[in-house]
Amino acid sequence: MSADLLALTDVRMGFGDGPDVVAGVSLSMSRNEFVSIVGPSGCGKSTILNAVAGLMPVRGGTVTYQGEQIRGVNTAVGYMTQGDTLLPWRTVEDNVAMPLRLRGVNKAEARAKVAELLTMLDLDGAGRKFPAQLSGGMKRRALLARSMIYQPDLLLMDEPFAALDAQLRTQMHRELRSTVARTRQAVLFVTHDIFEAVLLSDRVIVIGGTPAAPTAEVDIPFGADRDIEGLRFDPQFVSLEKQVHDELSRARTLSRVAS
Ligand SMILES: Nc1ncnc2c1ncn2[C@@H]1O[C@H](COP(=O)(O)OP(=O)(O)OP(=O)(O)O)[C@@H](O)[C@H]1O
Ligand SMILES: [Mg+2]
Repeated sequence: MSADLLALTDVRMGFGDGPDVVAGVSLSMSRNEFVSIVGPSGCGKSTILNAVAGLMPVRGGTVTYQGEQIRGVNTAVGYMTQGDTLLPWRTVEDNVAMPLRLRGVNKAEARAKVAELLTMLDLDGAGRKFPAQLSGGMKRRALLARSMIYQPDLLLMDEPFAALDAQLRTQMHRELRSTVARTRQAVLFVTHDIFEAVLLSDRVIVIGGTPAAPTAEVDIPFGADRDIEGLRFDPQFVSLEKQVHDELSRARTLSRVAS
């Protein structure tokens, strides 16, 4: 496995004076790879993404992005956080345009890109609204739009589709997978949904234990132009789903035994 994009080496993290939440976390990603992290609730998945985004310091080990060690906020990645970080006093349009505006893109160009993305994410008509006027699923899509508007080499996504209905989720799966294939972006994706992890990923990393660390890795060999609608009927897909499911059960047991 190549590590030309991202490498975490023996990373250890915790909060305040508390015990380590994750320890011995080593994982790497290559360009244009789609990797999912699955693991029991509270085991440290968002914490790991925060290390990659440089939003939380590590207690030990290193995080290297494109050959450079991350020491502060990593503005080179896009991050769709698990929580709602839309600015309530700005319209959806302005929220989504923000990463472009911060990078000096002019208003007209930003507006055109925002409109295109809002259409792709089924948010036509929501651009002039404020976050408080949106449903939970619409807010998630607005956040998704904001993380996708400029095209970083790596997108961090923390349960991006959890609040969506099944049909919309399928549509988002299709859009995300085809967008990143076209833009050659890599994605580090956190989900509780095993089906979604296998459907979208080139590789699934299972984490567990207390403190948590990767316990298994499953390669998903369907490639970039996979058939998002038809894959679920493929026997190999079903068997990979079962494999991830079994590894997750094992990780859950580890977390329980240790805590
Ligand atoms: N600000 C904080 N202060 C202290 N402990 C925290 C803080 N944030 C998270 N934790 C603890 O760190 C552990 C890992 O949290 P994290 O949010 O990374 O888990 P997660 O795997 O993303 O969970 P979920 O699947 O529920 O989103 C949890 O046990 C949580 O209670
Ligand atoms: Mg989380």
